[in-house]
Amino acid sequence: MSDLNQNKIIIAIDGYSSCGKSTVAKEIAKKLNYIFIDSGAMYRAVTLYCLRAGMVVKGEINLPVLLENLKKIRITFVFNPVTAHNDVCLNGENVEQEIRQLAVAQNVSQIAAIGAVRQLLVAQQQEMGRSKGIVMDGRDIGTVVFPNAELKIFMTADARIRAQRRYDEMIAKNEPVDFDEILKNITERDRFDETREESPLRKAADAIVLDNSHMTRDEQFEWILKKVEERVS
Ligand code: DC
Repeated sequence: MSDLNQNKIIIAIDGYSSCGKSTVAKEIAKKLNYIFIDSGAMYRAVTLYCLRAGMVVKGEINLPVLLENLKKIRITFVFNPVTAHNDVCLNGENVEQEIRQLAVAQNVSQIAAIGAVRQLLVAQQQEMGRSKGIVMDGRDIGTVVFPNAELKIFMTADARIRAQRRYDEMIAKNEPVDFDEILKNITERDRFDETREESPLRKAADAIVLDNSHMTRDEQFEWILKKVEERVS
């Protein structure tokens, strides 16, 4: 464990939506005493800003207005002592819960495809990784944000299994949900993220694939931890 703490590295976790990237990334960060950053939360917070400001009409973003207002959007993180993780804040307001709503999920891919939004957030993400000792999950972490990360993992799982996990989570929170709607949202977002022009979701050449369709959380955790040990020893 001492080596694990001395040689701090950057761990980039990319992959499809609802693969459980953040869940395992948080556990790994806690174990290693690293910072964990959910980069998707940053794109979701920008999306929430756009929705609140009425910039999304019938599913279409008003791009000129967003570009004009981009400087007014400040995304930060605050430590939540209850969960022991960082919550995302939009202009100082903790929006960690609100960004998980379906309205945000339905519009975030479109906003994450805008070059100016990506430039703004990627610069912040790179700054957060300057001292290493960070686990960041997203879609372009190993390809764009930290192309020199010591460990890159590309996570994937069967779409129906991912939809079922998301469904179970929302049911547990007493949120009204429809399985088919979740499955549709997941597959549409994946297709959109993979085919967009700006930093599309793709596996970095040096990333290792983790298909967790039939793995428990503990198995995924142990799998990643072993890869970390190989990198820092
Ligand atoms: O991981 P997530 O589902 O919370 O991400 C929300 C959206 O943000 C997802 O549709 C793709 C986008 N995203 C991105 O384009 N780049 C990232 N680094 C992280 C997320």
